[in-house]
Amino acid sequence: MREYTPDNITDAVLEQMSTTPDPRMKEIMEAAVRHLHAFARDVKLTPAEWIKGIEFMTKVGQMCTPARQEFILLSDTVGLSALVNIMHDKTKVEEATGASLLGPFFRENTPVFEKGAQIAKKTEGTEVVLYGRVTNAKGAPLANAMVTVWQTAADGRYDIQKGIEEIDCRGIFRTDENGNYVIRTVRPLGYFIPLDGPVGQMVMSQKRHGMRPAHIHFLISAPEYRELVTALYIAGDAHLDDDVVFGASGDLVAEVKDNDPGCPIKGMPSIHFDFSLARESEADKRAGRVGGDPGAITAGNGKATTPYGTPPPEMVAAATESKKGGFLGNLFRGK
Ligand code: BEZ
Ligand code: FE
Repeated sequence: MREYTPDNITDAVLEQMSTTPDPRMKEIMEAAVRHLHAFARDVKLTPAEWIKGIEFMTKVGQMCTPARQEFILLSDTVGLSALVNIMHDKTKVEEATGASLLGPFFRENTPVFEKGAQIAKKTEGTEVVLYGRVTNAKGAPLANAMVTVWQTAADGRYDIQKGIEEIDCRGIFRTDENGNYVIRTVRPLGYFIPLDGPVGQMVMSQKRHGMRPAHIHFLISAPEYRELVTALYIAGDAHLDDDVVFGASGDLVAEVKDNDPGCPIKGMPSIHFDFSLARESEADKRAGRVGGDPGAITAGNGKATTPYGTPPPEMVAAATESKKGGFLGNLFRGK
């Protein structure tokens, strides 16, 4: 009978998982186990610390609802979302506008507006015009591209933070025949990421400020082009260089100008930004977005559950037939 040691247990796990039929799943799970074990060995993780981690992850899961995705927030605050985003961005088949985080406040349910419409229900803050062109990588205009935009209201909060029914400061626009888009909105504010859950506790315990610089999210798509998930960061914000979720980057910083002669709505402050889209590759079709609508990820709860179910019959049959039998085989033999 084999004896496990800190040095041989990783190989034992990898050996047992080597039957995984899906090669990509096998690769990902093997690397995850190798790195997790290395991490535990590295910090000499104690049982008390391990259970603290389990408690933390449990709280993160319990915090998730159709209006809130605490796991995405966790991924964001440890830079994993940004890393996946940056790696994905590098696989574009041609030079185009850089990506930025989708974040947890995107939602599929977004109203459609005509060119130049105001997306904010209340315009107490500074009204701002967003305008520019959507082109391909060579600069040719993309007509009828879909431009989805969402941001905080003038009070620095997203609609979804006020309630799942609330819809404000988000909209879907189409570019015109010359690839132009025009959107009216209010100037967004920098804001704290949600700090009232376990991820917030983690951030605060690390003495981090917990803020994102002011920004406006964009999701831009056109048939046969890679969907662009990005954001514009407002020049001058104090947290451009230390965004708590590592999303802000220099190429996406945009200035609010007071008297831009090119602004299609005269007399209003404006942001001019031209976006370019890369052609869609075959791999892009499978890659998916970094982030997601919490409502689409988190199924509603309220279903009656039993603590543990019985193993699938085929597993029991396999264990029963197995020569070795083992614990499961003995347990379910003759059932
Ligand atoms: C956001 O930009 O909306 C966001 C991104 C990551 C975490 C929290 C908020
Ligand atoms: Fe945001």
